[in-house]
Amino acid sequence: MPNPHRSKEQEEKDRRERLAYVGALAAGLVHEVRTPLHAIQLNAQMLVEDVDKLPEEIRPRFDRRASRIYTEVKSLAKTLEAFLTFARPPRLDPGPTDLNRFLRELIEFVQPEMDEAGISIKSELASDLYPVVLDQNQFTHVVLNLLRNAKEAIEQRQEKENEIIEGVIRISTTERESQIDLLIEDNGIGIQPEDEEHIFEVFYTTKQKGTGLGLGIVRRIVEDHRGTISVIPIAPPGARFRITLPRGHFLEFRKE
Ligand SMILES: Nc1ncnc2c1ncn2[C@@H]1O[C@H](COP(=O)(O)OP(=O)(O)OP(=O)(O)O)[C@@H](O)[C@H]1O
Ligand SMILES: [Mg+2]
Repeated sequence: MPNPHRSKEQEEKDRRERLAYVGALAAGLVHEVRTPLHAIQLNAQMLVEDVDKLPEEIRPRFDRRASRIYTEVKSLAKTLEAFLTFARPPRLDPGPTDLNRFLRELIEFVQPEMDEAGISIKSELASDLYPVVLDQNQFTHVVLNLLRNAKEAIEQRQEKENEIIEGVIRISTTERESQIDLLIEDNGIGIQPEDEEHIFEVFYTTKQKGTGLGLGIVRRIVEDHRGTISVIPIAPPGARFRITLPRGHFLEFRKE
């Protein structure tokens, strides 16, 4: 008799092992490639800065090509950094955290970027929230990745509809039984039904310039915190993500 629980566990184990393997390979590769890439980036930048000194007839062509090299190399470096974050073994350095305060600080940090894109962030944070146990550095990646995706989704919707829409990202926290829910919702382009089951997969992206690593990293960090993340269907337009974290188990997490 097939045992659905066993096979689900097995699937999960396989997934983790595959990721660990890819991670180890990637970390090695990234270290090899990073140093020469930084040298190329620096030199390309210097070429771009020297463009003005060139004779008029070759300047535009040179400028185009040097700028292209510079942007491509920069984007490659970004991809590698994202991969390295993903490949790093999950060593948590957790501590009791006031999630609301943590979120307020992050919101303050991204506010200028969101203001510039005409996006407002509305937060509804439960009062007297029980503390959660977080590795704040790693969890910062989680929230920033979700906020960046939300911003990009709003920009994609603006592009598609070819008009300025009022971009809104809602962040809320609620407490239920022994869990804390964190919801992040936007009114962007939304997730196509056929993409929904794939978006947490490593390398799955629908964006021209995406790496598809963002949500893979997010899910891994959330699960390292013994939490879960899922997409909650909402009426279009937009997308809603829910992270559920256990209320603080300080003793379980305490380091020797
Ligand atoms: N808020 C959102 N609204 C709509 N689609 C989303 C949202 N967040 C994620 N997605 C979908 O999930 C895909 C995977 O997201 P993920 O963050 O892993 O990669 P990415 O954003 O495409 O690339 P990267 O994060 O590396 O720049 C996206 O390409 C997009 O299709
Ligand atoms: Mg992303």
